[in-house]
Amino acid sequence: MLFSNVYDDKQRAEAYATLDFPGTYYLAYRDLPAIIAEHVAGKEALDFGCGAGRSTRFLKKLGFNPVGIDISSSMIQSAKNSDPKGTYLLVNDGDFSAFEANRFDLIFSSFAFDNIPGVGKRLDICYAG
Ligand SMILES: C[S@@+](CC[C@H](N)C(=O)[O-])C[C@H]1O[C@@H](n2cnc3c(N)ncnc32)[C@H](O)[C@@H]1O
Repeated sequence: MLFSNVYDDKQRAEAYATLDFPGTYYLAYRDLPAIIAEHVAGKEALDFGCGAGRSTRFLKKLGFNPVGIDISSSMIQSAKNSDPKGTYLLVNDGDFSAFEANRFDLIFSSFAFDNIPGVGKRLDICYAG
């Protein structure tokens, strides 16, 4: 089946680059600092489906050294523009070969999995590496 990522779009990436945490985004992120502080030891984080880097910058503010990855070149470019010192990598779908096993203390993903078609593929990604 042909899969098209609607997020691989310059205009959408630019819109995401200025998106903060309005409305339900605020609620989705509100309790994360406390949950993460309670359950995560270590500071190395992967932000899967980082988009324009909003979630990666959120992790940075919590004190993590985050690496943002995404399959959309437009999103990765926007992330780099907004955060030139950050680490953002364009990856092929499902390819985590850039990272050695157990490299990260936290694998974070916000609002990415709803863009991945099918339970099978979502599970493959969850259990990769
Ligand atoms: C709604 S955006 C969320 C971006 C960011 N996490 C945030 O909260 O601002 C979803 C992102 O997931 C990415 N994405 C979708 N499928 C992906 C996959 N298989 N691997 C990596 N990124 C993916 C899209 O390209 C898009 O940038």
